[in-house]
Amino acid sequence: PASGVAEPDLVGRHVVISAGGTREPLDPVRFLGNRSSGKQGYALARTAVARGARVTLVSANTALADPAGVDLVRVGTALQLREAVLKAAADADAVVMAAAVADFRPAEYAGGKIKKKDGQEPAPVTLVRNPDILAEISADRAREGQVVVGFAAETDDVLANGRSKLLRKGCDLLVVNEVGEAKTFGSEENEAVILSSDGSELAVPYGPKESLADVIWDQVAPRLAARRA
Ligand code: CTP
Ligand code: CA
Repeated sequence: PASGVAEPDLVGRHVVISAGGTREPLDPVRFLGNRSSGKQGYALARTAVARGARVTLVSANTALADPAGVDLVRVGTALQLREAVLKAAADADAVVMAAAVADFRPAEYAGGKIKKKDGQEPAPVTLVRNPDILAEISADRAREGQVVVGFAAETDDVLANGRSKLLRKGCDLLVVNEVGEAKTFGSEENEAVILSSDGSELAVPYGPKESLADVIWDQVAPRLAARRA
């Protein structure tokens, strides 16, 4: 709002936010990871606290200051993130999956450091699928009327991919970002389109991640009220 004072429209609500990027270990010193900094998820946590929510922040491999007033749960892998999010979602009014979750993990974990040998080609890395946490939460809805929000990072056909992803995941809102080398990852700013399962579309201009976070809560809050009534 223009006054700079947040509306207390999330008072009495429990919101769960995942942030950061999962790491899937290959051996004790190596992992498969991604470029998510966690800044958008942390901005969502801070703005939700400012609007009065009780916040559980499930944080995967971030290097950011702990936001004040949140219940912070640190995780590493996609499977750990799933456990933590499902547990917290049991009594949540809203779940926002801002984390970049690895789609695949190495099929095998080498208990000792993988060593190279002279004249020998590296062994191929076999991957297996991780569970789709967002689809699972959208299908289960631990609490009646729970609002579920996903994110999508796309490099091509951003809107078309976003629309089909919203349907496939079954969430209420999907925040679609265009990503590229310099865009979004690690930066302070973001630009997005928020797609809704009711067919509406909201373009959010390039700006601070805090601003996008507030626009997301602006979309979530009325859906919560509507469902509780
Ligand atoms: N997500 C999830 N569990 C996974 C993968 C993704 O919960 N195993 C969530 C992310 O947190 C995000 C949303 O799903 O909110 C979309 O992630 P994205 O990687 O864009 O979607 P995918 O279905 O994995 O599609 P793609 O093949 O484009 O990676
Ligand atoms: Ca993915």
